[in-house]
Amino acid sequence: MMCTKELITGKAFINGQWISGTETFDVVNPATGGVVQKVANLTIPQVREAVEAAHHSWVSFKKSDVAERAEMLEDWYKLMLAHKRELAEIITLESGKSLTDSLGEVDYGASFVLWFAEESKRAYGETVPAATQANRIVTIKQGVGVVAAIAPWNFPLAMVTRKVAPAIAAGCPVILRPASQTPLTSLALAILAERAGWPVGVFHVVTGTDASAMGYELSTHPLIRKLSFTGSTAVGKLLMKQSATQVKKLSLELGGNAPFIVFEDADLDAAVEGAMFAKFRNAGQTCVAVNRFLVADVVFDAFASRLTTAVASLKVGNGLDDGVQIGPLINRKGRDKVEKHIADAVDKGARVLTGGKVIKDLYYEPTVLADVPADALIAREETFGPVASLFRFKTEEEAIRMANDTEFGLVAYFYSNDVRRCWRVAEAIEAGMVGVNEGRISFAGAPFGGIKESGIGREGGRVGLEEYLEVKYINFGLAGS
Ligand code: SIN
Repeated sequence: MMCTKELITGKAFINGQWISGTETFDVVNPATGGVVQKVANLTIPQVREAVEAAHHSWVSFKKSDVAERAEMLEDWYKLMLAHKRELAEIITLESGKSLTDSLGEVDYGASFVLWFAEESKRAYGETVPAATQANRIVTIKQGVGVVAAIAPWNFPLAMVTRKVAPAIAAGCPVILRPASQTPLTSLALAILAERAGWPVGVFHVVTGTDASAMGYELSTHPLIRKLSFTGSTAVGKLLMKQSATQVKKLSLELGGNAPFIVFEDADLDAAVEGAMFAKFRNAGQTCVAVNRFLVADVVFDAFASRLTTAVASLKVGNGLDDGVQIGPLINRKGRDKVEKHIADAVDKGARVLTGGKVIKDLYYEPTVLADVPADALIAREETFGPVASLFRFKTEEEAIRMANDTEFGLVAYFYSNDVRRCWRVAEAIEAGMVGVNEGRISFAGAPFGGIKESGIGREGGRVGLEEYLEVKYINFGLAGS
């Protein structure tokens, strides 16, 4: 039974007011093509209003007690868990992901809120030995100021909380721009923030379809001190360029091309279990989704056959239906990319072990491709779909070279039972995160983020709070009377 109604609104949230907007846009359920809700399509002057209100609220919010901010987050966290089912249904309705994935996302997203409620108390400074007795030096940490958070559609809740929670913990007001495909979860979170009694002006949700105009405004407005973005590398580069106007502080969580190496000494059952999560969560639409399985020649057939059995048993359908594990892709563009990558790999000699076709509309068969050649598009571009592509290697050096042969560096996974190899490979891999015999690497207490063109900054963990703080050094001169 659906229980989402009380948390669904199509109104944007600016300065404590729910705004209808003169124009609206449709949020469409990818599973059915039906309209879930009409949502306010804000204008740029309305976005500016939110920025000005946020700036105004910063004057008092930056002086708020840490205990007050921790309590705001704790209350928000409790409300999220109390409304877990409703939030999960909203996530599924607007993103298409399976309800199991959505329930998992609520737990995952809420865990960032609790983490940062606790971590807000630990924004420690330090004392620094001065060169002489005439001085004392300390550092303090202060919130950076008004934050713009631009969130993606693939995790409508978790990518929001891991930006908003550290900002609030640091005493920074936030303007959140959710993806136009999935604004409803953000608006539901604003309803819960209002119920948690958050001060007016510290949290705004600006909805709209003109991503480039809103992105431009949020990355160039002089009152915004920090921009946090999750999305494609192309858009991240543009926002970075635009943010240079005021040298804004930036966190960018961008694209990936994750390798998953299966060495000849791996536990193949464990590797398949890790692979299923790391590849097929949210139908492969995650930045940390495996894009390339690099499999040792001697275990290639055994791994391919076990993975194919597991993939062929996945249940595809409307995410709200019982037992469904793989929902539809987000939209036509996403589906076309999956089709293009598969057609290209097959043209170049890859074998389809299972799947390989559109079922209907936005539903795509979970697919395994074997013997994918190095020049296939899938080897270089992020597929963002339910396709496991298997490449062969012969030596550890070759596997590391293949893994690092990409401009991206978000995450890598590998399976081996040789502890020396585990350290060697973990250190040689060029990525911000490495899963060693582990396909689930996302955790609120750990720093999530990439190197190379996968981004800058980290979300989650101790450093996730630092991203919203500035260090101020204070030098006390003691000379004189
Ligand atoms: C992402 O896909 O951007 C995030 C995935 C995660 O946090 O696990």
